[in-house]
This record gives sequence, structure tokens and C-alpha cells, in this order.
Amino acid sequence: YVLGVDLGTSSLKGLVVNKNGEVLFQSSSDYKLYHPQKGHSEQKPRDWIMALENVLKDLIVKCPDLKENLEGLSISGQMHSLVLLDQKGDVLRDAILWNDVRTTKQCQEISERLGDSLLSKTKNIALEGFTLPKILWVMEHEPEIWGKVGTVLLPKDYLSYYLTGKRCTEYSDAAGTLMLNVTEKEWDSDILSEFNISSNQLPELIDSFGEVGTIQQSLLAKFGFKNSVKVFAGGADNACASFGAGIISEDRAMCSIGTSGVFLSYEGVEEKDYHGKLHFFNHVMPKSYYSMGVTLAAGQSLSWFKEIFGGERTFEEILDEAAQSVPGANGLLFVPFIMGERTPYIDGKIRGSFVGIDASHKFSDFARAVIEGITFSLKESQKLMMENTAKIFKEIVSVGGGAKSDLWMQIQADVFETNVRSLKVEQGPGLGAAMIAAMGLEWFNNVETCVATFVTYDQEFYPDNDNVSEYKKYYDIYKMIYSSTRDIS
Ligand code: XUL
Repeated sequence: YVLGVDLGTSSLKGLVVNKNGEVLFQSSSDYKLYHPQKGHSEQKPRDWIMALENVLKDLIVKCPDLKENLEGLSISGQMHSLVLLDQKGDVLRDAILWNDVRTTKQCQEISERLGDSLLSKTKNIALEGFTLPKILWVMEHEPEIWGKVGTVLLPKDYLSYYLTGKRCTEYSDAAGTLMLNVTEKEWDSDILSEFNISSNQLPELIDSFGEVGTIQQSLLAKFGFKNSVKVFAGGADNACASFGAGIISEDRAMCSIGTSGVFLSYEGVEEKDYHGKLHFFNHVMPKSYYSMGVTLAAGQSLSWFKEIFGGERTFEEILDEAAQSVPGANGLLFVPFIMGERTPYIDGKIRGSFVGIDASHKFSDFARAVIEGITFSLKESQKLMMENTAKIFKEIVSVGGGAKSDLWMQIQADVFETNVRSLKVEQGPGLGAAMIAAMGLEWFNNVETCVATFVTYDQEFYPDNDNVSEYKKYYDIYKMIYSSTRDIS
């Protein structure tokens, strides 16, 4: 067996997978998110360890032969979050998470001090979520803590450290720190020296499929594992999710609609220049990259709508009512900027709106407008990818909440003007992590065979010509809303 672990923002999940790619057992354990001040978002790395221990114990109960037959594991993790260890390896403060927005000032400082070289070296621009601004915040506000820092780690690498005693990371997560030279695949010495960070404080870089080490003897005994268990480096959650969705060619993309929405494209070995409008990171597959755009409030917009306007309705009932309306929601448009927006506007101040309200509009039109608006927002990322390269998408794999409704799948096919399909059994980034362990163990010679064994697809939805032309019309109006509403937000 291999074990794929996903260290998420609300819980840790583990999947036991066999050589046929079948997920045999799964388990998850929740932990808390702390908001000690407005805009702050933190977690206790100790809670992640407890969750990992709970999941391992539970999986061993569910699958007793795991003790003999677990060959390797790998971890997918929430990106960018900052874990600080002292020389001994003790955690110095709570982890500052990817969705923490305290670092606006530090982002400005990074942009000013590094100028164009930030984008040319890291392929990204300074955003509050990324790791380097968090380091600068700690240097400025907690110098006594920064003075003790032995190693800066990312969340999943902290769990690998707990398991193996080795302080390592891999390129897909390192790329989200703003300290990696994405082309050279090295910590960037100019960026580090500009901010007085020593390269000794950063973990060793290895490939995602590379071996960090084996589970330490004391832990093998604690859980009752009989044989040595290899720990492979794993990857950033979005990279793992797309690997687990089988996105390994440039003509396929992933659309993930959870609380936030992600439109992600595999970029192969060639570097692309999106001028910082999209995130551009190293992938878990050697020598390849991926780009992604983020809609901050995707599923969150629908949850907000349900809470404020939905009364007693469930999500299913809201989607059923949305199906009573027509493409374009009888002229009603919604933009989902209720939390500000990342792609393509990078504007924390802009807010959402309904546009075109008519006295005849019903609840069903409003529900449909919300779903269509979220999808239009993700189309903006798709468009950026297509406009900056010669990319044509043949297929989009939809995961998350958006993949659970036939109506929303059809809307995606019509808005993206591309075939859209879902996964038969959706396991999220944990499956990608299990696949990384399988690759690390050399169960497969190439990623294609690994994907063919682990990933199975469900029904495909095709664009409908009439709907496509309706949506094109509404998308053109949708795009005008940002500039018209920017000044009143
Ligand atoms: C990506 C990002 C989030 C986290 C969630 O840039 O900030 O998607 O990876 O875990």
C-alpha cells in the first residue's frame, strides 16, 4: 500500500491506496483555525501532528495489514503557510496561514525593493498569502522569535520532518514562498540577502517524487509498523489535486470549485510569461510547471447567497431552482467579488454586485446568476491562459462542489466552451499525494501509467451551441462590471 495524506486548512485526510490505484480506506481528523486578530489566520503545528496520529491510528484499525504492507507515504499540503522552527526543531510560534492578510505593507516593501527582478526570478508577484511577506512581518513584529529561527518550513514539510527527522521541501511548495528562483530551481541568493535570510534557514530542496527519509524508529514502534516506511517529498495541494485529477498535458485543465475557486493548467516543460497575472509554480512532475488563477469567493458566494436569501433551502434545492431559470438568468448578472478578488484583478477592495435586476426576476434567476457569475470569474483565468499562449483546452476536469451538480457541469461546459468531466471517485489532493508515493516507489515507469491506473472519470458534458452564444453575450457585459464598480467599492 501507499498512504496519501492531505494537510488541508480545516482537516487532515489520509487515503490507503493499493497497487491497482483503488482507495481502500480513508480517514480524516479536524483541527482549529485561529483568528487572534482581524485579518490574522493561524494554526498550531502540534494540531496537525495530532491529526496525523489520529488518522494513522484509525487507518490501522480499519486496515490491520497496513502495519505489514505500508511501503511509502507522501503528503500534500496547504501552500505558503509559515512554520518556524528553532535549531533543535521546536516550533517557535503558531503557523501563519496562506489566508492571513496581515502583510499588505510587507508586500509593498518586497515589490519596491526587488522591482522587476521579483517577477523574473520567482515568476510571481508579492501577494499577502505568500511566505516571504510573512517572514518580513515576523522580523518586524517579533524580532526575538526571528532571532531564534533555525529553519523555515512549509506545513507538509513540518509533518515530514516529524516523521523522518529531515528538514526538506520540494519545488511545488518552495515556488509559493517568493524565495525560489523558479527557473534555476534554487533558493534565490539575491532575494535572501536583500532580506537578511540565511540559506541555512531554508530546507534542502528535492524533487516531489524524491525520498525525504524513512519513518523514524520510535514512530514505527509507536504505530506498530513492521517494516521501514519511505516518506516521499509530496507537493503543494493544488499541484497534487491536479495530478490526482490526471491533468498531465497542456490541453487539459482543472476547475476546482470549493470555498475558493481555482482554474489550473498544466504547463509542461516550457516557461510561460503571464506577467504575474496568474500564479506560475513548479509542478510535482519533474521539469514541469503549472499556472493557476484564483476566484476568492467561489463556493463561498453560493454559501453566502444561501444564508442571506435561501431561507430553509438546501444547496441541492437552490441548484434545482436555478435549473428553472435560463442561461443568462433572464438578464441578471452577479459578480462574486464579495471578499475582493485575486485573478485577474488582484484587488482586495472591490466588492460584488447583482446587475440588471428586473421586477420580473425570481429567486431561480438570482440563484442561477450566482452560479453563472462564479463560473464567469473562473473563465477569466482560462482566458488569460489562452490569450498569453497558443493554448487550446480540449477538456476540463471539474472537482469540488461545482462537479456535484449536472446543472453546474453543463454551465461550466457552456461558459468554458470546452468539454467538462468529473472524477468517478473524487479524493482531492490526497490521491495526488498517494500517486507521488507510488511514483517514488517506482511502482510505475512514467506518470501516464500512474494516472491511467489511479484516475477514473465520470460523465462528460459538452458545450451546447445556443447556450455558448448566450453566455458569450453575458460574459462581455460581466467583464465591464469590474471597471464600472471599482470606484464605488
Ligand atoms: C494557493 C492558495 C490556496 C492554498 C489552499 O495559492 O493560497 O489554494 O494552497 O490550501
